[in-house]
Amino acid sequence: MSLKKYILDLRKRRERVQQGGGEKAIEKQTAMGKMTARERILALLDKDSFTEYDLFVEHEARDFGMDKKQLHGDGVIIGTGTIYGAPVCVFAQDFTVAGGSLGLMHARKITKIMDHALKMRVPLIGINDSGGARIQEGVNSLAGYGEIFYRNTIASGVIPQISVILGPCAGGAVYSPALTDFVFTVDKISKMFITGPSVIKTVLGEEISMEDLGGARVHAEITGNAHFFAESEQECFDQIKKLITYIPWNNKQKAKAFPPKPPKFKKNIDDIIPGDPRQPYDVRDVIKAIADDSDFFEIQELFAANIVIGFGRMNGETVGFVANQPLVLAGVLDTDSSDKAARFIRYCDAFNIPIITLEDMPGYLPGIDQEHAGVIRHGAKVLYAYSEATVPKITVILRKAYGGGYIAMNSRHMHADFMFAWPTAEIAVMGPEGAANIIFKKEIEEADNPDEMRKLKVQEYKEKFANPYVAAAKGYIDSVIEPDETRQMLLHALDVSVSKEDHRPDKKHGVPPF
Ligand code: HXC
Repeated sequence: MSLKKYILDLRKRRERVQQGGGEKAIEKQTAMGKMTARERILALLDKDSFTEYDLFVEHEARDFGMDKKQLHGDGVIIGTGTIYGAPVCVFAQDFTVAGGSLGLMHARKITKIMDHALKMRVPLIGINDSGGARIQEGVNSLAGYGEIFYRNTIASGVIPQISVILGPCAGGAVYSPALTDFVFTVDKISKMFITGPSVIKTVLGEEISMEDLGGARVHAEITGNAHFFAESEQECFDQIKKLITYIPWNNKQKAKAFPPKPPKFKKNIDDIIPGDPRQPYDVRDVIKAIADDSDFFEIQELFAANIVIGFGRMNGETVGFVANQPLVLAGVLDTDSSDKAARFIRYCDAFNIPIITLEDMPGYLPGIDQEHAGVIRHGAKVLYAYSEATVPKITVILRKAYGGGYIAMNSRHMHADFMFAWPTAEIAVMGPEGAANIIFKKEIEEADNPDEMRKLKVQEYKEKFANPYVAAAKGYIDSVIEPDETRQMLLHALDVSVSKEDHRPDKKHGVPPF
């Protein structure tokens, strides 16, 4: 054979494998509004940057007629490429090939690219579209998932791991994403469950559609398993690309700096908080008034909306914002919002991203449901996460900072580096009404006009404690600042924190409340 013939033969082989599960299966995939695995990788990565490996891998299964089946690439594509020039490793499961199910060789391809990402210290992006463990391959497919879970765990906190759910994902195909940092979903396309509706019907007799059981909205709003929700695959890839711009390649680096830009938000920061302390406002307006270009990349926007988390930039450098949201449940901490905040704080800490906390909340949510749902152990995660974090930690108390919430939201006592408070801050064990009712109970009950007496006592309590000056007098607050001074104070605090060192006692690892 001449060289030309060898090359033509190679091209033919490539073409054959690149057809995945064949025309019919691809048509079915497209009819569901889904891109193919290959199209997804190309849509996500920089143009012409994708290089594929293990194209010619074949499965080795012999049981249940598998010896007669050829599964191109064994149902998964792996490779490397770039996003805005940043190197990434990627895999995409091909649902057109045996439902993207994971057999031994499929798993080996994924673990190969995971090992590569960890060795090269670059982000790993997994596009999941899979029925889970390949049933015909028995324990080999379970072994494959085990190896993936192990690597997800070892790589956690070392390289960013991003999961994209783009199909009906069951079993191992959802546990691996659950071990990663960010899970992206698309409306009507993403489904995640441990077992699908048919198993649920067989075992429990319960009937439910795939969408209602584990659709994108369910995971973005109710379970919190998803961090991002998009209307289309393209929108989802744009979100991933944006995320990549905010995070470093690994835990030894800092995120890429961008040219600094002043906020462009129109509203005057002094006018964001209403005069009446019981009136809500959108804390995202405060973030937009502070952050470069008023740009805020929100994470888990639809889940536990009483806390707001996400990335922005200050003077061109990435920061993580954690902010109580007075618009929802007055911004209280509850089980879900505690989980949401704590995990994000740990992410920022692992990847050298300073944390800015904006506080306005009346404390932890009381109630039987919350107590029985374990608000103690969930709430403790916030205390743990802030105490453990060694990145620069800066807090601004905007309004209410009551009780356990005051302590938890990165107070001086959690070793915040800088504590600022607006003059509207109220720092106390509880709100003035509740406090007056308890400590002045007798006087109120015995007064000729109890309502009048209650008002007087509430006012007395407010003047004494519901302000920032008592805490400032004790040095718990470093500066009481005008709202308009906030960005400048934060920029300065960040500037003087760049070489922060904060060491912890030597230990294997902590045992956080899970
Ligand atoms: C082998 C599978 C498969 C699997 C799907 N297929 N899942 N093959 N092993 N796990 C194949 C189908 O046989 C079919 O092949 C093709 O993929 C498309 O599947 P359909 O069922 O036609 O598609 P759809 O109706 O869209 O349903 C998708 C689905 C369903 C919801 C994912 O296929 C399903 O319920 N699959 C099983 C899910 C599951 O229970 N997996 C095991 C999880 S246990 P043909 O040849 O007809 O095109 C697990 C262990 C790890 O993962 C657990 C860790 C904790």
